[in-house]
Amino acid sequence: MKIIGLHFGHDASITIIIDGKIVVHVLAERHNRVKHSVGLRAAEMDAALSAADLEWREIDCCAVVSTQDLEIMTGLVGDDFAIRPGETKQHPVPSPFMQLLESAGTPLESLLVKGLQKVAELDEERAALPENQRWTKIFPEWQEFRAGRISSIGWLNVFIAHDRWNAGRGMEDIRTDGIDPAMFGNATRLGMHIPVTVSWKGHSVPGYFVDHHVCHAASAYYRSGFENSAIITHDGGDASRNLSGLFCYGQGSRLFTLGPHHLALGGIYRAMGIKLGFGAIGPEGKLMGLSSYGQPRFFDSRFVGNVHDSQKRFGEGPFSAWYRHCLKLAEQAHYDLLHGEASQVLNPISVDMAASTQKLFAEGYLLAAEVLHQGLAESDRGTANLCLTGGAALNCPSNSRLYNESAFRDIYIDPNCDDGGLSVGGALFIFHNLMDHPVDLATAKNNRSPFFGLQWPAGLSEEIFVDAGQRYAVSKPDNMAASAAKDLDENKVLALYEGRSEMGPRALCHRSVLANPTDHGNWARVNGIKGREAWRPFAPVVIEEKMQDWFAGCPTHSPYMLFTARVRSRRLPAITHVDGSSRIQTVSAETGAIYQILREFDALTGIPVLMNTSLNGPGVPIVERPDEAYELFKDSAVDVLYLNGMRIGKN
Ligand SMILES: [Fe+2]
Repeated sequence: MKIIGLHFGHDASITIIIDGKIVVHVLAERHNRVKHSVGLRAAEMDAALSAADLEWREIDCCAVVSTQDLEIMTGLVGDDFAIRPGETKQHPVPSPFMQLLESAGTPLESLLVKGLQKVAELDEERAALPENQRWTKIFPEWQEFRAGRISSIGWLNVFIAHDRWNAGRGMEDIRTDGIDPAMFGNATRLGMHIPVTVSWKGHSVPGYFVDHHVCHAASAYYRSGFENSAIITHDGGDASRNLSGLFCYGQGSRLFTLGPHHLALGGIYRAMGIKLGFGAIGPEGKLMGLSSYGQPRFFDSRFVGNVHDSQKRFGEGPFSAWYRHCLKLAEQAHYDLLHGEASQVLNPISVDMAASTQKLFAEGYLLAAEVLHQGLAESDRGTANLCLTGGAALNCPSNSRLYNESAFRDIYIDPNCDDGGLSVGGALFIFHNLMDHPVDLATAKNNRSPFFGLQWPAGLSEEIFVDAGQRYAVSKPDNMAASAAKDLDENKVLALYEGRSEMGPRALCHRSVLANPTDHGNWARVNGIKGREAWRPFAPVVIEEKMQDWFAGCPTHSPYMLFTARVRSRRLPAITHVDGSSRIQTVSAETGAIYQILREFDALTGIPVLMNTSLNGPGVPIVERPDEAYELFKDSAVDVLYLNGMRIGKN
């Protein structure tokens, strides 16, 4: 069974699974070099199919998904590419939602939304707002689209819903109501998809639109290896329209949608990042880094809850209420109120608003986890397992608080829990939930590897070595790991490029910059090399079996850099945040060359830890191809490039 997952929203991606196993994952931004890029193109589709050794006509089924409100740019793939929603030919799994629409006489077309079209029609003043301007930056074909030269079809934000879901329930209402037993049947399990037909290159493939958050849930749950699990999906979608995330429950091959939680934590976090001057593209990561500099002096438990709690308590949306509250307290405490410019991010008001928002975020998640845990226990489906997914699961300090303080004992988070992972989730949802294939542990383990990027031909690297030989010292060390460890001990900054690229937004050591963590100066030095703000912190990689000697307070197996730990040693100043925390990645032999490099570095220095950051320039995606790594090396102050086993060193 060959299934292709196509995600057309921001962080667009393609995933092909064969008999449940991921064989390739292509994140569009790595190929068109526009961070968070919207839409898919024919070249990316062809590259993914070719990597899986398949033709389009050999695909059995297709999952289609997009970001909330974002239409699907069919015309970007080509004039011969079309998606027809609602068409039911060849589909083995019925869609109760389609049947419901038909019996209600609701045309499917009336539900399809085109959010980018609305932005394109705005006047200049509104188009200049950060939220709108964002699209012109991450959708490279924006001008062409605006001129009406790219065809599209609308995306579906709503699928089957329970009456309770639209009742404006606060978090305590959700707790009190408990979980309707019907949710553990097929009422919503088979209500989160509709049939579509995808035609390209003269051949039609049956497929399904799959709900955005259900794709997030499937991406985490089917890879987790858990026999059953509570699942929380959350991102920056509009909580007042039930688009910010779901409570779900997975059991065996089945994924049950329990209902929306109406959390607005992702939206609050993002809006605060923009207020503090981080811009509309990726403010969340910077806010997370900044939060370690402040104290949560503005935190107030009255703000913990969902969008409906906020309306009931304050008569307004959660961010406006929260922001006004922070400003009021800051004024009363005689803070300098200046914030919002890059030069003001380290002002006391900025760092304390960041720390307070971080605490609000974690407390909101903890409450939601408690409500879900209790609801499942009362439904005789109690579980100690939790899957976290959606872009909000990239928040490492909050994830660690859930690990340390919630009733859940095991937490799994997918490495591409942001929208980049939706193509994985869509494909797995069809294979397991719709087609009823059981989940086996070996397949789930295969699918937990993040290294499913394209394999680049050896010839590309050979060309680089020839060019590099005329400018730099090029060698093939007998023991690459020992050579790299020696370079790091000599305080050189290394770029490490190895094999297939990692999924998700974080560099997991196939496309990384590495430095010695014991030299505090490397903090500013590597920020300088990468063109980042000097205050932004760095993450460490650590040998998994030695993790507990150096870090505490997070899972000992943390392979995707998704948890924050407390640093137990003073010998790692370059990777220790000002509050003594660090966002760690644990490394085992499966990770690749980095494992041996760490072992050799440990043998030399007694320290099984290195500083690790992504191999990219400012504002652009992580490099994908070997020649991109080489270009970055040439143009930057990186001292040495290890590229597929070869060493290229500057003199
Ligand atoms: Fe999402």
